[in-house]
Amino acid sequence: MIFAAILAGGIGSRMGGTDTPKQFLNLGDKPVIVHTIEKFVINSKFDKILVLSPKSFINHTNNLIVEYFGENSNIVVLEGGQTRNDTLINAIDYINENFEIDDDSIIVTHDSVRPFVTHRIIEDNIKAAKEFGACDTVIPATDTIVESVDSEVITNIPIRDNFYQGQTPQSFKINKLSKLINSLNERETNILTDACKIFVLKNEDVYLVDGEITNIKITYPYDLKLANTILKESNHD
Ligand code: CTP
Repeated sequence: MIFAAILAGGIGSRMGGTDTPKQFLNLGDKPVIVHTIEKFVINSKFDKILVLSPKSFINHTNNLIVEYFGENSNIVVLEGGQTRNDTLINAIDYINENFEIDDDSIIVTHDSVRPFVTHRIIEDNIKAAKEFGACDTVIPATDTIVESVDSEVITNIPIRDNFYQGQTPQSFKINKLSKLINSLNERETNILTDACKIFVLKNEDVYLVDGEITNIKITYPYDLKLANTILKESNHD
């Protein structure tokens, strides 16, 4: 089986200025999260699309889904967790409790605030997760990366060609991911804020999928402005 988990459990504190989490703000004429969900709905490979939202926005999310995707969509809304990783774990728990999955079943996890993910990126994630067990979507780093351990002087300037910026989706074989999560001790659980990092820490390969420069994450108010520009440009294509 193939699942999508759209992670929308955050409150968007860096966006500021509003009590509405950024995923529910309008981009063009509809909420950011609706743009994101659409990209998964049009791909017929998904057996179920899980949308994980803050508890107080579950009703609102359900209403949006009925409004934009109808009563009988294959979308289910669940409660997110305290951290992004907790939200992902809620998705995995729901799948394990409600479906008979096999070792080839995969989950494509995606930030709700990356509305410009493409069909090609999602397809490449499905393919790579099936073949390699885990994958991350990345683009080559464009700025020079400068490391400073004390925030005062440079400790290291690594070779840029070896560095990438992580985007999403990140996709995994569900049984493999569950096993790795269950094997973490408390210290590891606290430092592992990224599911791909769990694989890396446990010496498991994570395959690289090419992202897109337009697959931006809306984090600050400026990003929402940029997203509106990207949307307008894409409507002109
Ligand atoms: N996310 C989530 N559950 C959380 C925290 C984050 O599902 N407990 C999701 C967000 O909703 C977002 C994605 O993870 O779609 C990327 O996280 P980020 O941009 O950091 O979102 P927020 O945590 O909402 O933003 P901020 O850090 O500014 O509060």
